[in-house]
Amino acid sequence: MSARILDGKAIAAEMREELKAKVAELKGKGVTPGLGVLLVGDDPASRSYVTAKEKACENTGIYSREERLPATATREEILNVVNAYNADDRINGILVQLPLPDKSMEQAVINAIDPDKDVDGFHPVNIGRMLLGEPCFLPCTPHGILHILKRSGIKTSGADVVVLGRSNIVGRPLVNMLTQKSDMGNATVTMCHTRTKDVAKYTREADIVVAAAGVPNALTADMIKDGAVVIDVGVNRVEDASAKRGYRLVGDADFDACKEKASAITPVPGGVGPMTITMLLYNTVESAARRVS
Ligand code: GUN
Repeated sequence: MSARILDGKAIAAEMREELKAKVAELKGKGVTPGLGVLLVGDDPASRSYVTAKEKACENTGIYSREERLPATATREEILNVVNAYNADDRINGILVQLPLPDKSMEQAVINAIDPDKDVDGFHPVNIGRMLLGEPCFLPCTPHGILHILKRSGIKTSGADVVVLGRSNIVGRPLVNMLTQKSDMGNATVTMCHTRTKDVAKYTREADIVVAAAGVPNALTADMIKDGAVVIDVGVNRVEDASAKRGYRLVGDADFDACKEKASAITPVPGGVGPMTITMLLYNTVESAARRVS
């Protein structure tokens, strides 16, 4: 069997058209959604993510503003930018690109973001609301995965799902969202991580496997059952002398081999990545919409 390719780029484009219409409607009511971005340091991957997010804002009609600080920025300097965004009425959403050069500052910085502008869904208040199933900003990557599944007609209700990876950004929130009693949840979920004794024992039983380990080839074809759905969250740079930039992007799954066994699979790039950005736009528009209702 050759798997159906779940085209995240196309689904993202479809959702962005819907968001464009919503932005136009909000503008008609005098509200322009605004995103405040903070990039600390000069990590090339973070730089390119931020540029992609800003470009996506522009294409959707969302106002965006960027502040940059050097890698040596103090906690106070970072918090000053966050506080300025918190106080700025034109800014409905705040994005502090992670990781910060000093990872030990991250939680304090996230905690300083107004939960009502926390369009990443990383603030403890939003995580608590998510756990309780209350309205909140959902973290963008797991939320995007649920939309890929939904818009591709793949049911999570009653499905056995295995999530590889326990990050705060993807694995942990995704497990929670998939277990909610909701139209994009109702799954039975197992989370595997670096201390799981036998990962394949779990993935071989799964209807849906989400690979979010951050390791190339963490999921190989022998680890999935025939007809499984594979969602690949990995964005790994591997050296490739024949590529223009000297590297190419690969996911966490062995795409070529898994594609022959799975019923559906997301590619890298062009799968989950474009959805992450789209859900950031979605949350920013949602935040702005709260102003008018
Ligand atoms: N770094 C990697 N993914 C993300 C994300 O979704 N949001 C932020 N702020 N930083 C990230």
